Amino acid sequence: MNMKALSLWVMLCLAITKSLATSRHCNFPAIFNFGDSNSDTGGLSAAFGQPGPPHGESYFHHPAGRYCDGRLIVDFLAKKLGVPYLNAYLDAVGSNFSHGANFATAGSTIRPQNTTLHQFGGFSPFSLDVQFNQFNDFQRRSKIFQSKGGVYETLLPKAEYFSQALYTFDIGQNDLAAGYFHNMSIDQVRAYVPDVLAQFKNIIKYIYDHGGRSFWVHNTGPVGCLPYMIELFPHKAHRMDKAGCVASYNEVAQFFNHELKAAVVELRKKLPLAAITYVDVYSLKYSLISQAKKHGFEEPLRACCGHGGKYNYNMHIGCGAKIKVHGKEILIGKACKDPSVWVNWDGVHYTQAANKWVFDQIVNGSFSDPPIPLNMACHKQL
Ligand SMILES: *[C@@H]1O[C@H](CO)[C@@H](O)[C@H](O)[C@H]1NC(C)=O
Ligand SMILES: *[C@@H]1O[C@H](CO)[C@@H](O)[C@H](O)[C@H]1NC(C)=O
Ligand SMILES: *[C@@H]1O[C@H](CO)[C@@H](O)[C@H](O)[C@H]1NC(C)=O
Ligand SMILES: *[C@@H]1O[C@H](CO)[C@@H](O)[C@H](O)[C@H]1NC(C)=O
Repeated sequence: MNMKALSLWVMLCLAITKSLATSRHCNFPAIFNFGDSNSDTGGLSAAFGQPGPPHGESYFHHPAGRYCDGRLIVDFLAKKLGVPYLNAYLDAVGSNFSHGANFATAGSTIRPQNTTLHQFGGFSPFSLDVQFNQFNDFQRRSKIFQSKGGVYETLLPKAEYFSQALYTFDIGQNDLAAGYFHNMSIDQVRAYVPDVLAQFKNIIKYIYDHGGRSFWVHNTGPVGCLPYMIELFPHKAHRMDKAGCVASYNEVAQFFNHELKAAVVELRKKLPLAAITYVDVYSLKYSLISQAKKHGFEEPLRACCGHGGKYNYNMHIGCGAKIKVHGKEILIGKACKDPSVWVNWDGVHYTQAANKWVFDQIVNGSFSDPPIPLNMACHKQL
């Protein structure tokens, strides 16, 4: 081969490689999300009332159904994929589901709970099995109403979107927390993790049977670093780690994540057409909390919005709480001055700034298994 032919050949190879690389970008026309408050964009609020101001103040400038001062990881994810912020399935007024729906509600668990919202800990009745039933109903009726045309056609996903969509999950944290709220020991909570994950696997299988192919699964965060967990439970008997978190709660969360990863490996074998990405948000959240200063944040274990105490968290006077003084309502669950440098919003949830920081780290796949970026998460392997 002479030089000219060789260089032509090299150019041709480069062109092919480039087109292959770009053609591998997935086109996700919709997102269907399942989860808890980490990704609730208005579900619990539609069922039980809106969290009041100052929620939403940093971005929406009014409460927006989110337990946050602004956007959640799922909002940044939607923005990155070029689809509108997801409406909650339960949100009947003004919603547009043409590019997906959000079934997550604050307080949701994978397993149905025996206690109700207003008892210990406030767990949601919309556990993952209920969220799946809602999805099932949504898919079935979308098909019926799509065929009616008119406004329905612009408000509901096209039939083919259900197989092309990205199915996202961030759930499990409350299954662990529920045990502690019921005064269970660390070992008792650890012991039911396999049952929780068995139910999680079932739901992924059901969605696959309904056409879902691309799955994006967040592992659970360091629940032992959340102000409400540190504050609420007598932890004299617990070890605190160097970051000031309850070590034993985090160890159970890591055990959950280890088992979740094994569940994902098993699901990949059982569901041959599924691309399942496991995303390690635990490590990022822990890094953000344990090295907050390095990442440009302050006071990672104190809530930005709350009312007093070491962690600025008071179970009875939450973020947005008001009292009446001489017939006048006064806000006493107030926000800090600059939420953009705080990690924790209200003692339970992360700030918009923290959510954005985590999203910016996960988007390129460096915390994923397999390690491929978000916009390639429809592929089984690179
Ligand atoms: C709820 O109660 C039933 C019956 O006592 C029990 O079998 C089940 O495990 C409980 N569920 C949870 C999540 O604790
Ligand atoms: C719903 O949203 C889609 C995408 O943003 C838009 O094209 C459509 O017109 C909207 N439907 C209505 C009724 O507003
Ligand atoms: C857990 O223990 C505390 C303190 O002993 C008690 O007040 C609470 O009612 C117990 N919660 C449950 C669910 O048993
Ligand atoms: C992914 O993004 C993060 C944050 O921008 C960056 O630090 C990291 O080096 C990137 N990793 C890869 C593999 O590109």
